[in-house]
Amino acid sequence: MSHNHDSKIYVAGHRGMVGSAIVRELARKGYTNLVYRTHQELDLTNQAAVKDFFETEKPDQVYLAAAKVGGIHANNTYPAEFIYENLMVQNNVIHQAFLSGVKKLLFLGSSCIYPKLASQPMAEDALLTGKLEPTNEPYAIAKIAGIKMCESYHRQHGQSNGLDYRSVMPTNLYGPGDNYHPENSHVIPALIRRFHEAKMIQSPEVVIWGTGTPRREFLYVDDMASASVFAMELDKNHYDRLTSPMQSHLNVGFGSDLNIADLANLIARTTGFKGKIHFDPSKPDGTPRKMMDSSKLRQLGWQPSVDLESGLTLTYANFLQKISS
Ligand SMILES: NC(=O)c1ccc[n+]([C@@H]2O[C@H](COP(=O)([O-])OP(=O)(O)OC[C@H]3O[C@@H](n4cnc5c(N)ncnc54)[C@H](OP(=O)(O)O)[C@@H]3O)[C@@H](O)[C@H]2O)c1
Repeated sequence: MSHNHDSKIYVAGHRGMVGSAIVRELARKGYTNLVYRTHQELDLTNQAAVKDFFETEKPDQVYLAAAKVGGIHANNTYPAEFIYENLMVQNNVIHQAFLSGVKKLLFLGSSCIYPKLASQPMAEDALLTGKLEPTNEPYAIAKIAGIKMCESYHRQHGQSNGLDYRSVMPTNLYGPGDNYHPENSHVIPALIRRFHEAKMIQSPEVVIWGTGTPRREFLYVDDMASASVFAMELDKNHYDRLTSPMQSHLNVGFGSDLNIADLANLIARTTGFKGKIHFDPSKPDGTPRKMMDSSKLRQLGWQPSVDLESGLTLTYANFLQKISS
């Protein structure tokens, strides 16, 4: 299918890790008419400002990759901000996009929408089948509302005006533009920083919380961007074939997982840390396994292209660049 590369595309959150990867992917695919605003220029929680933006720019398509995101600590400390800001951002963007005539929109969710005890790997139909993980429940509720909002607009306005709003749910992502904050980052950037620092001070050992046995899945962010553009470009008949009006989201995962001990060894190798890795089993492990079932997107023809080892090498290079600048 051919796509109009002159379509005006708004990428919300274009300076974030995922948004910037989507911008790279769109440019790579020859889309030339992109529009964005920084957070400072346009606060997406401000309804009047968002309305004004859509009326002025009148984009054809929207990628909604702006969100308030954070780790367990931030989610636990600021639950009100997580639920309020995410609901406001997505309500404003989705509704004003609709009012200004945007036909195609892609909403980015997260694997935390699935119940804490969902069977593994988690398929799309696990949504709303059980209780969520309490630590990020407010954030997850906002993301579920975002999926249901796209779905409801699609159900009400899809037939009459051709509106086609979709959602994708990524697994854990890593790559350039990640957050390396010492206390508030995800496992890959946190380990990259710790192994790098341990190498620099020639520390003999790095201690990692837990037993090292929990299994996790990771996807390189440029693969997530390629999946996002793929999902947006998918012909409607194909998309509809594997989704249904009230279950319209698609999972995006790498397709295999590994345990934290293997991940730590891989990151030690990538960063050149030569000391010992010690696991502290007195510290909590978290869920034993968390993995997406991404077979629907695979069946539709998408697959990742960056394996974990290459992805970590690229990410470490980006980390070194970041700390030297
Ligand atoms: N990273 C992951 O592992 C992961 C996994 C699954 C799903 N996702 C999803 O992917 C999406 C993007 O995540 P990310 O990792 O790219 O996060 P990120 O790096 O923090 O990027 C989010 C972007 O949104 C902007 N933003 C936040 N609130 C805003 C507001 N009120 N107005 C305007 N802009 C605002 C941020 O700007 P400022 O920084 O200036 O506030 C930032 O540029 C999220 O929906 C997230 O749930 C991420």
